Amino acid sequence: MALVTLNEILPQARKEKRAVAAFNVANYEAALGVIRASETEKLPVIIQLFQRMFRSEKGADLAATLCRMATRCSQPVVVHLDHGAEAWQVRDALSAGLTSVMFDGSVLPYDENVALTKYTADYAHRVGASCEGEIGHVAMGDENAITTVEDAVRFYNDTNVDALAISVGTVHGFYKAAPCINVQRCREIADALPNTPLVLHGGSGTPPEDIRALIENGIAKINIATEFMDTFLKSTRREIEKLGDGFKPIDIFNDPIVDDCASHASKLLRFFSGR
Ligand code: 13P
Repeated sequence: MALVTLNEILPQARKEKRAVAAFNVANYEAALGVIRASETEKLPVIIQLFQRMFRSEKGADLAATLCRMATRCSQPVVVHLDHGAEAWQVRDALSAGLTSVMFDGSVLPYDENVALTKYTADYAHRVGASCEGEIGHVAMGDENAITTVEDAVRFYNDTNVDALAISVGTVHGFYKAAPCINVQRCREIADALPNTPLVLHGGSGTPPEDIRALIENGIAKINIATEFMDTFLKSTRREIEKLGDGFKPIDIFNDPIVDDCASHASKLLRFFSGR
């Protein structure tokens, strides 16, 4: 089908109380698993590159590969910059062909977050791309700043982003204790912004019943990094152990790893879509 922006898939998902999975990848094999899952499930998907990858040629090299894969996929695919932290990363990501960018100013003072996110959104829109911003802060540990309804509405109106990441109790990485997810706050924000696709960061390990409730209440994009990477790594370790000291068939070594990544991605795509 096509390489698309968030605007081709998220507003409809929000309307239909579905969410689209956004997988962070850092290599071809994990990306191939994602694309294959999208084909198998006949569902749109988002593939994202973390901002640090643009500190070297790695970002642009992989971006070219991902865009080619997306273009050949029968389903809509967004190739997105995750957690953009500097204007040059946004510029480089868009020049490398990404169709969507996030600017994450969630730890900055409100006015600075607005100024940088709005700059990013305007820039992205000028070149036909989409933009995600974040208000409230989804942390690595337990220092989350839960998004207020007032901030969410004000930030959305001030920045003109296409998708809004909010903080409602998830954290980045695996949970050390059961999370306390604020579905009520998500519902209030969704009610105040009835057409805005809301984004959930820190999707890994979030209990399915919480995910389901959040999707019912406005979340239309769910970011998954840690648990997908965990599948990739565990699968790689298993394959290395199987090889032992024997011959190393480098051309097919990764095939079972891609299969595992595809199964993982398929399961989440189905679940988030309400199937
Ligand atoms: P997890 O690593 O917790 O899945 O979070 C991913 C994420 O939010 C990427 O932006």
